[in-house]
Amino acid sequence: TAPSLVPAQSGAPAVEPTVPTRRLVILWASQTGNAEEFAASAATHLTPAAGRTPELLAMADASPAQLTSEADVLLVTSTFGDGDAPDNGAGFWQTLSDPDSARLEGIRYAVLGFGDSNYDDFCGHGRRLDERFDALGATRLLPRTDSEPDFEETAEQWLGQVVTALATADDRQPVPAGAVETAVPEPAVTTTPAVTAPPPAPAPAGFTKASPFSTLLVGNRLLSLPGSQKEVRQFAFDTRDGELAYDAGDALGVWPANGAPLVAEWLALTGLDPDGPVDLGDGAPLPLEEALRTRLDIARITTDLLKFTADRTGSHDLKRQLRTDNKDALAKWSRGRQAADVIAEFPVRASSTEWTGVLKRLQPRLYSIASSPLAHPGEVHLTVSVVRYTNNLGRDRKGVCSTYLADHADDGPVQVFIQRSPHFRPPADPATPMIMVGPGTGVAPFVGFLEDRQARGHTGPNWLFFGEQREATDFYYRQDLEAYQASGHLDRLDLAFSRDQRNKIYVQDRMREHGPRLWQWLQDGAHFYVCGDAARMAKDVDQALKDIATTHGGLSPDEAAACPRTSATSATSTDSTAC
Ligand code: 2AM
Repeated sequence: TAPSLVPAQSGAPAVEPTVPTRRLVILWASQTGNAEEFAASAATHLTPAAGRTPELLAMADASPAQLTSEADVLLVTSTFGDGDAPDNGAGFWQTLSDPDSARLEGIRYAVLGFGDSNYDDFCGHGRRLDERFDALGATRLLPRTDSEPDFEETAEQWLGQVVTALATADDRQPVPAGAVETAVPEPAVTTTPAVTAPPPAPAPAGFTKASPFSTLLVGNRLLSLPGSQKEVRQFAFDTRDGELAYDAGDALGVWPANGAPLVAEWLALTGLDPDGPVDLGDGAPLPLEEALRTRLDIARITTDLLKFTADRTGSHDLKRQLRTDNKDALAKWSRGRQAADVIAEFPVRASSTEWTGVLKRLQPRLYSIASSPLAHPGEVHLTVSVVRYTNNLGRDRKGVCSTYLADHADDGPVQVFIQRSPHFRPPADPATPMIMVGPGTGVAPFVGFLEDRQARGHTGPNWLFFGEQREATDFYYRQDLEAYQASGHLDRLDLAFSRDQRNKIYVQDRMREHGPRLWQWLQDGAHFYVCGDAARMAKDVDQALKDIATTHGGLSPDEAAACPRTSATSATSTDSTAC
């Protein structure tokens, strides 16, 4: 059962006026763990900083109906896919967005959104939560903050503002809607001296994005076969006897570096001195060339870069692309282009300081881990699709991190860290059945799950749906999976090779074919997992699951939508940063 958000009944009125009587709740939803991790560190900080002990609650364990009494609620959430709720916030949102949802009068709240402005509907889920709380009568403590992937500073500023707002909330006017992106203003009206921001969060134990583990690549093997449209590789890294600790289901963060040819292209296009010092504001100045290689994102086209280029060149063409009613055309124009293509087409003369102000910081990429530490002591494995293509301008372009791993990771140490996914795990119960849907590189975590269950001697039934373009070239881990099938560890292996016949066959088609059996497994308590392309495949799989629940389980569409077993759990396995 979900913990109650209603304060325990107390017969006596508060006798100490200095003791706050309102409850403080931090309610989080997280896709990859950033929002979860920050929510936990915020809870630790608020105890001394705000003099109140917050309750830390996952949206997955809470219901809006419980938010009935006076409480201060801090909503910390990421956005998934195209402005959707993270998986573990989907149920909470579904209830909250219902027209009959309970009113939230008396509640005061603040929202911190995690996102990436390179995606459409930046921090869309945070925005919708903010608007919905307002519409249901709750009182906003401060304007929402939308943070980028390098969220640390922004999130800490937000926390400082929360402390101030909580201390002054009783005397203030309502705060209007509207978001603050990557910077937080003063609260609307401050009637008492501002409380200083809390000190920065202490680094959690272990290796983190900010203090990664330095490792060596010990394996780099092609999983796709010659003739495939893709280059999919397995990478193995040394964990130094488990010093880099992880569990099956976690993700590995990898700090990439830009390739030397791309850096040289940038230097030639901008005409800047490679040795000229640049100050990125977080340490000693470093030569521009090194900043371009290891610190700045010089591949992605960002809105900031396009605006800067449009302003500097006065290009009407580019300005037209940037019009808000032109999103689809801009997406089409941007496809396959990288930042260097933009400045080659629209040459800009700017100083290195101006460029470093426009460029985003290079971010680590997260990959689902494709191993169990129990099966491969001392190692951690990834399954990565290496991105290389020739764009329609005829230029060869590459995915930054995947080609860094494929071509350069054995040049020297690689900086990595574990992104825990405590909600994406094989069943704890040895006998619980498990159904996994992992087409493409989405199979990665399930290789780890199967290894893990075998190493633990867990004998619950296992069922994997795998799909790719062609059986002859794209059946990754074929030997391992067929061996699991032969030994009985894998009860069912259903395959969907989309391009081996005239009509496309996808994993969700195989699920539907086996609908009655799949429903029976769910009735038997199976855990259901999906990993891979979140924008299309995971949505289609979720729909197939709901259809199976209505067709074979006799559920109404509403019941199927509300059924927790039909909500997919997904993980990251792409060349891009997720939040
Ligand atoms: P396709 O590229 O032939 O369309 C891994 O990329 C596999 O997922 C491929 O076989 C790919 O098929 C397939 N795929 C593409 N879109 C999908 C979707 N919406 N749902 C499920 N699988 C999909």
